[in-house]
Amino acid sequence: MSESDHPPLLEVHVEAKHYTARTVLDHLSLRIGHGEIVSLVGPSGCGKSTLLRIVAALDRQYHGEVHVNGTPLNGPSSQIGVIFQEPRLLPWLTVADNVGFEAGSGGGRDPRVAQLLAEVGLAGQEHTLPKALSGGMAQRVAIARGLFSQPDLLLLDEPFSAVDAMTRMRLQALLLSVARAHGTAALLVTHDLDEALYLSDRVLLMAAAPGRIDREYRVARPRPRDRRDPVLADLRAQLLERLDAFEAV
Ligand SMILES: Nc1ncnc2c1ncn2[C@@H]1O[C@H](COP(=O)(O)OP(=O)(O)O)[C@@H](O)[C@H]1O
Ligand SMILES: [Mg+2]
Repeated sequence: MSESDHPPLLEVHVEAKHYTARTVLDHLSLRIGHGEIVSLVGPSGCGKSTLLRIVAALDRQYHGEVHVNGTPLNGPSSQIGVIFQEPRLLPWLTVADNVGFEAGSGGGRDPRVAQLLAEVGLAGQEHTLPKALSGGMAQRVAIARGLFSQPDLLLLDEPFSAVDAMTRMRLQALLLSVARAHGTAALLVTHDLDEALYLSDRVLLMAAAPGRIDREYRVARPRPRDRRDPVLADLRAQLLERLDAFEAV
């Protein structure tokens, strides 16, 4: 079968993205296959969030194109779920109505909401209001909401940066389990190299000014992974060495 019969899940070509006179992204291409987990790491300000916003169709002011399942992306798509650093829940809606928000008022009664809440460890919390949730619980709700439209791809921008270390590890495990259960791919921005190496099939290292993909690191280890795996430690050393080289420039 030729490749054109099976377009990649996501294909991004950004020729250029400018903020006023400054080029923020320059000739950046990436592809993600179905079910693949890819992390984006790189120096602060290199354009990771800008790239994610382009893929989410939240930013259309760029030169280039994004294809999802071979179709040009022309606006926010139900094939793509987005999870930000802050849960961004609507405080006046119950947990269930936040998860089912996309289905409109009463979306919380959709049977998929209760199932998603059970999957993220929040069974029975349908009627809880966001103010009663811990940061980790709120982010679980955001993950359930991101999955509600049954997307093929989840976009996550530093999703676990605001929670404590133990919660962070639990949420990482949760992300892996829901991604596997739903066959969902993920593009994850993180500044945590260990997180990137623990979760991803590939880690893309971005360079700054202008933002571009510098190198790709394949993490050819089965999941679930051992966080102390020497293969991960070796990749981490390679990534750090390359990041140090950026700073020496
Ligand atoms: N709305 C904006 N207007 C002008 N410059 C911006 C805007 N958003 C981001 N930038 C700049 O674009 C660059 C990339 O930002 P960003 O994508 O947020 O980086 P990262 O997520 O990698 O830290 C930074 O230099 C940032 O200051
Ligand atoms: Mg960012």
